[in-house]
Amino acid sequence: MKAQGYIEEMSDEGLGVLKAEKPIYIPYTVVGDFVKVYKTRRRFGRIIAESFEVVEFSLLRQTPRCEHFGKCGGCLWQHIKYKKQLKLKQENFKEITGITADIKGSPKLFGFRNSSNFIVTTQGIGFKEYAKPLSIVDVEECPVFSNKTWEYLRTLKEFMKEENLKAWDLKRKRGDVHYLSVREGKSTGETMINLIAHIKPVKAFRNYLSFADSLYWSFKADERDDPRGEPQLTAGEPYIRERIEDVVYLIHPNSFFQANSYALPLLLKAVEGFTEGEKVLDLYSGVGTFGIWLAKRGFKVEGVEVNPFAVEMANKNAELNGVDAVFRIGKAEETPIGDYDTVVVDPPRKGLKETAELLAKSGIENIIYVSCNPKAFRLDCEKHLKKAYQIEDALLIDMFPHTPHVEAVVKLMRRG
Ligand SMILES: C[S@@+](CC[C@H](N)C(=O)[O-])C[C@H]1O[C@@H](n2cnc3c(N)ncnc32)[C@H](O)[C@@H]1O
Repeated sequence: MKAQGYIEEMSDEGLGVLKAEKPIYIPYTVVGDFVKVYKTRRRFGRIIAESFEVVEFSLLRQTPRCEHFGKCGGCLWQHIKYKKQLKLKQENFKEITGITADIKGSPKLFGFRNSSNFIVTTQGIGFKEYAKPLSIVDVEECPVFSNKTWEYLRTLKEFMKEENLKAWDLKRKRGDVHYLSVREGKSTGETMINLIAHIKPVKAFRNYLSFADSLYWSFKADERDDPRGEPQLTAGEPYIRERIEDVVYLIHPNSFFQANSYALPLLLKAVEGFTEGEKVLDLYSGVGTFGIWLAKRGFKVEGVEVNPFAVEMANKNAELNGVDAVFRIGKAEETPIGDYDTVVVDPPRKGLKETAELLAKSGIENIIYVSCNPKAFRLDCEKHLKKAYQIEDALLIDMFPHTPHVEAVVKLMRRG
């Protein structure tokens, strides 16, 4: 045995930490567990437990719902009581940013995810193991996503068997089918299925997954391991719709959409609550998720987004909802920050970088920073934003139950 003892704290990636000679990071454990570690390995400069046993269970535990929990890399925290999950997220956010913020939990704890990418491999169809990108967990179910998971997967297997299609071999980097991407409009009941494959569309495909409202085949020319190809509509509608209260959003295989449809209203209302004045700039606007919501409430919105496809979708969404919002293609870091009352920023995981400097030099009174990465947020603040802004308010929204992740909405006010 390498080490044993109680888990005393959680790392910011959501692993239990055993304080041995050097800390050992143990997935699927929680504070209060007593663990015996038999085998470890190094990953990104840390020691991760690979073989271990929990010999005494913490009172913070609950029974995980999913049969694949403990192996699948999708959920790290299904074994932790939900109230404690929320507390841990608050503490972690405070530890990283120094900000104390209230947290709002997800109204639904299972079946909340509106999209899932199942990797289709010679080892099985499902998700990657935690910290083992070449090892696949062959799944039967995914309770955080949909109770129809088994149906999607069974139909795919039938199709592949009948048509003699090969699954992707992760090591040799060859095969026919690589990913099955499924999206569900939770409020509309509409389903989009997108098969990402290294071969041209097979005719019989539409007969198998005919229950989908929108069916795509995406040809993938490269060997990269991601669910991206050139989507081609095979049957049904080009878009599916998701309704969030009084706003309808179109979803396309190429467009990002916030993953938790049930917690999304909380996120939108948090942003709305922090918005001041009339004129709003939605930077990193994607398909217009925030901008259209705000325009529906009477704000005059302009959006800037680098992905031309997302901009097209955002403008379609504005038209569909009959609102006064215009979205254009542009890089946030090159956007002249004109005369706006509020700027909403929702950057990718790496954070604002140069855009932070641009904002600090602008005359904008009110910034709303939506962040899924507290470390990047802290860096943006420390390097640039703090010089010109003070933190006025913050709220955390749990968009990702059973994972260590959280979405933060922070209101920054220009210093007087
Ligand atoms: C976290 S998503 C947020 C999208 C949108 N706010 C939403 O909630 O759906 C970040 C978005 O920033 C866009 N993006 C990435 N780099 C950018 C840049 N340099 N300038 C403008 N947009 C960028 C991405 O294409 C993506 O749509």
